[in-house]
Amino acid sequence: MKVLVAVGSKYGSTREIAQVIGAEIQSTGFDVDVEDACDVLSVDAYDAIIVGSAVYGGLWRRDASALIRQHADALKRRDVWMFSTGIRELKEPGYATGESEQLASLVGAQEHETFPGAIDYDRLNVGERAVMHAINPPLGDHRDFSAARDWAHGIGVKLLYLALA
Ligand SMILES: Cc1cc2nc3c(=O)[nH]c(=O)nc-3n(C[C@H](O)[C@H](O)[C@H](O)COP(=O)(O)O)c2cc1C
Repeated sequence: MKVLVAVGSKYGSTREIAQVIGAEIQSTGFDVDVEDACDVLSVDAYDAIIVGSAVYGGLWRRDASALIRQHADALKRRDVWMFSTGIRELKEPGYATGESEQLASLVGAQEHETFPGAIDYDRLNVGERAVMHAINPPLGDHRDFSAARDWAHGIGVKLLYLALA
C-alpha cells in the first residue's frame, strides 16, 4: 500500500509536521512519499492520501486546496485524511475553516484534524507583520509533534486493517 502526504506550507512549519506524519506512517510498514502539494501531478499511484495545509486569512494554501479540487474524483475513491495548522487566536474565520471543511466533505475525508502552528515574526513580510500587529496572535512555535505523531499512528493502524481486509 502506497501513501502520499501532501502539504501546503509557506514558511515550512507545516511541512515539518507533514514529515513527522509521513515518518510515523512509514514506521507502520507503508511506502510513504511526502511532497509539497504544488509538486503532486497525480494521486493515481497512491492508495491513501493525507493532505495538510497551513491556514492563512482563513484559507488553505492554494496549492493544497487546488490539489483536492483538481483530483477530487480520484480522491473520492481513496482513503483521505486532512489536517490544518494555524494559530487559534486568529480564528475569524481562521482555524479549521469553512473552506477546509468543504474540501473535506468534497472528497469524503475520513477525518480533518487541526494542529497548532508556528509564527516566526522575523521571517514575515511587511503585510503579514501588519496583520500580526493588528491581531496580536501568540507568536513563536506552538507545534505539538507528539500530537501529530499520535494522529498519524492512528492512521497507520487503520491502514493496516484496510490492508488486511
Ligand atoms: C499573515 C498570517 C495570517 C494567518 N492567518 C491565519 C488564520 O486565518 N487562521 C489560523 O488559524 N492561523 C493563521 N495564521 C497562522 C499560520 O497558519 C501558522 O503560522 C502556520 O503554522 C504557518 O504554517 P507554515 O509555516 O507552514 O506556512 C496566519 C499567519 C500569518 C503569518
